[in-house]
Amino acid sequence: MTSDQFRSLGHDLVDRIADFLASIRTLPVTPAEPPEQVRVALAATRVLPEAGQDPKALLRDAADLLFEHSLFNGHPRFYGYITSSAAPIGILADLLAAAVNANVGAWKLSPMATEMEAQVIRWLAQFIGYPTDCGGLLLSGGNMANLTCFLAARAAQARWDVREQGVAIGPRLCVYASTETHTWIQKAADLAGLGTKAIHWIDGRQPMDLHELEVRYRQDIEEGYQPFLVVGSAGTVSTGAVDPLPDLASFCQEHGLWFHVDGAYGAFASSVAGAPLELRGLQSADSVAVDPHKWLYTPLEAGCALVRNRSALMKAFSYHPPYYNFEGEGLNYYDIGPQNSRGFRALKVWLALQHAGAAGYRAMIQDDITLARYLYDLAVDHPELEAITNHLSITTLRYVPHELRAGLGSQQTEDYLNQLNQRLLAAIEKSGEAFISNAVIAGKYALRFCIVNFRASTGDVEAMPQLIAQLGRQIHAELSI
Ligand SMILES: Cc1ncc(COP(=O)(O)O)c(C=O)c1O
Repeated sequence: MTSDQFRSLGHDLVDRIADFLASIRTLPVTPAEPPEQVRVALAATRVLPEAGQDPKALLRDAADLLFEHSLFNGHPRFYGYITSSAAPIGILADLLAAAVNANVGAWKLSPMATEMEAQVIRWLAQFIGYPTDCGGLLLSGGNMANLTCFLAARAAQARWDVREQGVAIGPRLCVYASTETHTWIQKAADLAGLGTKAIHWIDGRQPMDLHELEVRYRQDIEEGYQPFLVVGSAGTVSTGAVDPLPDLASFCQEHGLWFHVDGAYGAFASSVAGAPLELRGLQSADSVAVDPHKWLYTPLEAGCALVRNRSALMKAFSYHPPYYNFEGEGLNYYDIGPQNSRGFRALKVWLALQHAGAAGYRAMIQDDITLARYLYDLAVDHPELEAITNHLSITTLRYVPHELRAGLGSQQTEDYLNQLNQRLLAAIEKSGEAFISNAVIAGKYALRFCIVNFRASTGDVEAMPQLIAQLGRQIHAELSI
């Protein structure tokens, strides 16, 4: 590709992306097509072309395919899971990062990119009130960031060389986590060789039960376990509830356990006025996972592990094979994390943080929290909605037909409402008017709105009760026939 060709193709593509972003509000949130339809659009069974093709046509077709057959998490009415709208500056950052193609595994291979990542780590720590001299690195997302902290805790806490000897020797290691913890904990226990039975679950339906934790810990010590880790959530995946982090920190300090906070979702709210004060407890943690690709709106992927004692990451991950020639050249990220070659994830975070500034981010996060609360209040006032929970920027609610109000709590009514709301979730998706996900709360199948979306407006949220009630009535009528 000549440089003139590159310039022209790039301009065309950026124009198309700018048009797409400008019109995103007018598009369905998702086309909700079945897999077969998407495969037909792609001509999925086509064989790999033998001859090279015209890049202009290729880029045009790729953009058409993606703009016409994607779910848009940047749409103002996307409220599913904890997936955010992507900051436009992050989109440009990824283009620039790919152009430099820095391998941020070793300082020598990526001098400026490595230093930018180190600066991002200090800025993220600063934003959540964590020590800025902590160790840290960017990873693909919350799962990998939490896993990285888990492995750092295991290496630091095992009383033998667990990296060399594995977990077959020594006392049985165990960890404590609330039943509301995201499923990364199962993958971590599994991948770390402990097995998922090493997770000693503590009831987390209400705030995590400290008494139960205390009792279980004493019992485990008597039975010969070596407890090494307590996990607290700074915003649970289902409802956004915050564990009693300061109490968990004290418990860990008293018993010499590693305290890890999963702040993938909620940690960035800790500096926002009015957010739950418990969030500040993350400042005492030995490690924290945070996700710039959630509430900092960077395009996927960007997760981050922060570890108070920076040498703990080195202790958990460093190997020095003879074919490495990077000693004494500044920070080598291969030394403090699981990856060898690493992409330049930091650039999009570095640019986005400065574009909005700390105050800009606090304001955007505050807006999301306010919108979720507003939706909850609208549901409270609506005769056909039942507001269930509201924490941080997650609100859960369900549709309840008028005539079933009186029967709430009876098994038959609850079973019916679960079926109705499950169908309703699918109908909302199919409508293309909004995209939400679900939560099951004390047996209730709830519609879950997670607002991590800088495009969502008051008007978007105000439209939700009517959409739910209208589709809810239709489904109720169909089910009642
Ligand atoms: C609390 C929490 N932890 C971890 C994760 C996993 O993050 P990721 O999907 O970026 O791996 C999520 C995802 O929503 C989450 O909400």
